[in-house]
Amino acid sequence: MMEVLNTVQQMKLWSRNRRQAGKTIGFVPTMGYLHEGHLSLMRQAREQNDFLVTSIFVNPTQFGRNEDLDSYPKAPEADSRKCEECGVDALFMPRNEDMYRPNFQTYVEVEKVSGPLCGASRPGHFRGVATVVLKLFNIVQASSAYFGEKDYQQLQVIKTMARDLDLPVSIVPCSTVRDSDGLAMSSRNSYLSSEERKQAVCLHQALETAEELFRSGEAEPDNYLKAMSDRIGKEPLAEIDYVELVHPQTLQRLANVDALGALAVMAVRIGKTRLIDNKVLGSGFID
Ligand code: PAJ
Repeated sequence: MMEVLNTVQQMKLWSRNRRQAGKTIGFVPTMGYLHEGHLSLMRQAREQNDFLVTSIFVNPTQFGRNEDLDSYPKAPEADSRKCEECGVDALFMPRNEDMYRPNFQTYVEVEKVSGPLCGASRPGHFRGVATVVLKLFNIVQASSAYFGEKDYQQLQVIKTMARDLDLPVSIVPCSTVRDSDGLAMSSRNSYLSSEERKQAVCLHQALETAEELFRSGEAEPDNYLKAMSDRIGKEPLAEIDYVELVHPQTLQRLANVDALGALAVMAVRIGKTRLIDNKVLGSGFID
């Protein structure tokens, strides 16, 4: 039977007992409105650990003032059913006031890797992510934590934090789960109208265009950027936030593309909904 834990104290105690008994805990942090992307992380964590913990917490500190904190989609009952079906042992759903108590004033800043891309478009976002993830790690005492490559920069930020702060948890990257037309699954896809949903396929198609250029041996980043922007530009409801070709670890712009490869990465607004996607070209950089 899955246990639902609503307080930090309950969660800490649950985990402490199991870790003291020498058991491993796999952890999948989420903001809920669960889809196959989230579930694939849970299945992997389920297989690799004695216990599986999932958290659902829409973390206010990672949302900007004009972002969708208040309208972020919620489906607690469906989420809880999905967790149970995936074999979650403990579902942690803390209250905001328990996570951010009065006089809260400590934040984690992961410097360089948080700077470009989404860090530039969403100031403070990764500070909020790193802070809540470190809190969750401390509460859940996970042995391994699972993160999707769909949020590539987030994964790099968490990996960097874990390494720099010597966190006793291994960070496990998981591949992006997509709809049949290639659109990366996201809780935010639920904001899309049916016309927007059709046009949203341009993100994935732009990445496929980049992949083709890479296979043909193209070395000039501008040619990738132009090809990707042109594909996105075909959709009247699409507006580019950024499209970049960067080093897969540092996320710094590349001067040229060689056989080691690159990360093609983008954020695109479809109507009012901001979507992100990425693709690693080549494999020479994988650590
Ligand atoms: P959320 O967007 O709910 O995502 C939770 C986890 O699911 C993240 O690791 C994310 O990368 C992964 N994920 C989302 N869509 C995916 C897909 N299509 N394929 C594979 N994995 C996918 O990311 C967050 O929440 C928050 O920032 C969080 C880490 C919980 C901190 O608040």
